[in-house]
Amino acid sequence: MSKSGIRAANSMATTRSALFGSQPRAGSEPRLDRLHIGCSKLPHRLGFGCAGLMRVASSRARQRLLSEAFDHGVRHFDVARMYGLGAAEAELGKFARGRREQLVIATKFGIETSATSSRLARVQTPARALVARSPALRATLKRRAAVFHRPHRYDPATARASLELSLRELGTDYVDILFVHDPSPRDDLQVAELGEALADLARAGYLRAWGFAGEPEPCIALDAAVTAPTVLQIRDDIFARGLRLDRDRPRVTFGILADALGRILIQISHDEGRRARWRNTMGGDRATPEDVASLLLQDALARNPSGTVLFSTTRPERIALAARAAEAVSSSHEPVPLRMFRQLVACELPPDLARHG
Ligand SMILES: NC(=O)c1ccc[n+]([C@@H]2O[C@H](COP(=O)([O-])OP(=O)(O)OC[C@H]3O[C@@H](n4cnc5c(N)ncnc54)[C@H](OP(=O)(O)O)[C@@H]3O)[C@@H](O)[C@H]2O)c1
Repeated sequence: MSKSGIRAANSMATTRSALFGSQPRAGSEPRLDRLHIGCSKLPHRLGFGCAGLMRVASSRARQRLLSEAFDHGVRHFDVARMYGLGAAEAELGKFARGRREQLVIATKFGIETSATSSRLARVQTPARALVARSPALRATLKRRAAVFHRPHRYDPATARASLELSLRELGTDYVDILFVHDPSPRDDLQVAELGEALADLARAGYLRAWGFAGEPEPCIALDAAVTAPTVLQIRDDIFARGLRLDRDRPRVTFGILADALGRILIQISHDEGRRARWRNTMGGDRATPEDVASLLLQDALARNPSGTVLFSTTRPERIALAARAAEAVSSSHEPVPLRMFRQLVACELPPDLARHG
């Protein structure tokens, strides 16, 4: 074992009980093999993202939203320490009670909420409503993002402390995947040392798999620097045509709707000719947000054939639509409307036009 490995193992041995309280239950030891990460299928095609969960007005409505996803077959739930200003993990943990073994819970470390945002977390629903109503306030808060998040930190001690907090908030003794959250080339990230520390945590049963989550370029580069099996979670949408998703290397993808949906709808609504061509090709008026969202999800699922596609919504009724999109892709080779949609987007909305639209 390398010196840094011994250091990591020693520090694990001395700090484990203080850090994590109890040992994971027998049977919750790392089960990388069960997830088949890195070599074959991820267990579930659709994953529900919890980044916007705390925008839903009440805990009752948030639990209803998560239940709706579960009832439609979603078992993969993606969260992070900083989602909902630090409050989303506890909400997901509440939902996971009594069904933990059926769920894949992925969380992340490296971006922590600041003391200010932790104080704000309890009153965030009315605060978010206020921000949503005021573009000026939104712009000011964006400029002052540092008030809400501390600088990114990816050292082993931060990973352990963050995981400990995540386990406590989630009310569980293991997470299925622990991601390094949004690393960038500017960050100080000693990948070998961190990898050893995370592998130690996996061996100790506190996590089943780990990997990198964020923008494709830095995450793919970091992933390539690690020999251990990892999980890669990267941003993807219909305009990311340079990104190749390999059937042999399942990935988790996100960002499918958020940006692309708005851009496509703007481009269609602002140009009568384009709107007419869209109607002629797709038949009827297939340019509603629901139609386009469904086709974007189908596109993402078809391009990531053995991985997991994350989506999110604050509206329970939209979950059924996402589930139907997943069914449409799995039940046939490539649905005809999807093929036509892709052709339309490629001809009418080349990436540059779509990005600057
Ligand atoms: N670094 C990372 O690993 C990273 C980064 C970003 C996100 N994520 C994860 O990925 C998850 C998903 O985030 P995302 O950015 O990929 O979100 P997304 O699913 O691409 O987009 C969500 C947006 O789409 C809208 N939407 C959903 N269904 C719709 C429908 N049927 N019709 C019209 N609009 C619809 C939602 O609005 P409504 O709420 O009004 O439905 C919401 O504004 C996050 O929650 C998070 O867990 C991870």
